[in-house]
Amino acid sequence: MNEKKFSITIAGGGSTFTPGIILMLLDHMETFPIRRIKLYDNDAERQEKIAKACEILLRERFPEVQFSYTTDPAEAFPDTDFVMAHIRVGKYAMRELDEKIPLKYDVVGQETCGPGGIAYGMRSIGGVIEIIDYMEKYAPNAWMLNYSNPAAIVAEATTRLRPNAKIINICDMPIGIERSFASILGLKDRKEMICRYYGLNHFGWWTSITDKEGNDLMPQLKAYVKDNGYVVNTVDFQHKDPSWKDTYQKVKDVYALDPDTLPNTYLKYYLCQDYVVKHSDKNYTRANEVMNGREKEVFSAAKEIVEKGTAENCGFHVDNHASFIVDLARAIAFNTGERMLLIVRNDGAIANFDSDAMVEIPCIVGKNGPEPLSMGNIPTFQKGLMEQQVSVEKLVVEAWTEGSYQKLWQAITLSKTVPSGEVAKKILDDLYEVNKPYWPELK
Ligand code: NAD
Ligand code: G6P
Ligand code: MN
Repeated sequence: MNEKKFSITIAGGGSTFTPGIILMLLDHMETFPIRRIKLYDNDAERQEKIAKACEILLRERFPEVQFSYTTDPAEAFPDTDFVMAHIRVGKYAMRELDEKIPLKYDVVGQETCGPGGIAYGMRSIGGVIEIIDYMEKYAPNAWMLNYSNPAAIVAEATTRLRPNAKIINICDMPIGIERSFASILGLKDRKEMICRYYGLNHFGWWTSITDKEGNDLMPQLKAYVKDNGYVVNTVDFQHKDPSWKDTYQKVKDVYALDPDTLPNTYLKYYLCQDYVVKHSDKNYTRANEVMNGREKEVFSAAKEIVEKGTAENCGFHVDNHASFIVDLARAIAFNTGERMLLIVRNDGAIANFDSDAMVEIPCIVGKNGPEPLSMGNIPTFQKGLMEQQVSVEKLVVEAWTEGSYQKLWQAITLSKTVPSGEVAKKILDDLYEVNKPYWPELK
């Protein structure tokens, strides 16, 4: 048992994922001991609903853990070792517009992909930078484990604008997919596999999966994926809705394009754009599904806990797949050298790709952060797609920094989801109109 106990700040305390993260932290108390949890959000009312329930939960399970919640950075950030950040600037109301505006023009409407993801990126950059600056002021030694989306754009922005910040950007999609791999292979735990993977966030491919003895597991996986995509029978609270099932199923067609690799589910938005648009309901998108599903479920579970005064048999769900956040914090805290997929500066890890691009690749993680593993040269198909996509992400960061309408127009035009500059401009003008409170002024 380790002696040291850690203090955690969860930024975006009012998030639908906060209860799951807290439950998951509590489940790992033995290997990652905690002395303090603080929630921070800029929406006091939303956060309080979640916080009051979490307070009861903690009091029942670990009364010795100090708990508080605040909207004041001067309270949230001093005395913290890890800031786990999952903010959504503009909340679901803006996500709904991100999804519905492109769809109006028969273009993919998605949280992190295409014009919707670009609009969200333009909102998130400022929010995440603000938190980095609070940390610099109040907790200069703390690490920020950031999963605020769109993680690819946020990562490009933070490396460019705050290159010395101790921030690691992470995503749970590969973990969710690797859990499917494990169940396809009949393994108990995804950690029984060793994976090689490269790409950008929500834009990557597995190239090798072996067991601990080095035996190749790809043939067995491919035989399954060819017919079924990643659909398996395991229950995953986050990915249980019909739209996610469709995404897991559609992998089959994405896989067919390159049977040498296994793709990230998000590639469907770039490689099956027409299918995605055709199968979208322009009046009821994923944002609606989440507002009527996860958001309602989490907030009504919180309300019930507060009304009953107990969290026993409560409706909060442990985000099992989110245990990678504890793995990451532990790896840094105890120098475990765990191998994890993270979003880091390429710096030659993908030999034939931009050295300053933020890529998602396996890293060995220790006290001083991630050490990327070399993934060698990548094939022309993936290289072409990634060069296009990383250029979109870089243009968004430049548009945000310079307040450039032109660059944002170029970014949207360059997205593989968008058919022309003309359509890009219409989408941009609509998005700009509704995003004025959140985006920098564009000239
Ligand atoms: P949510 O709207 O329920 O929660 C987000 C919270 O952030 C809200 O309470 C909001 O008030 C708060 N917030 C907004 N701007 C803020 C700011 N500037 N400072 C502090 N707090 C702020 O959203 P959700 O669906 O629970 O998702 C939360 C975030 O986590 C999103 O960005 C989502 O995309 C991301 N996410 C990422 C991954 C990943 O793989 N990287 C996985 C799951 C969720
Ligand atoms: C996946 C992705 C995340 C995304 C999450 C929730 O796990 O990796 O980046 O935010 O799904 O998506 P949802 O549509 O359920 O809010
Ligand atoms: Mn993700």
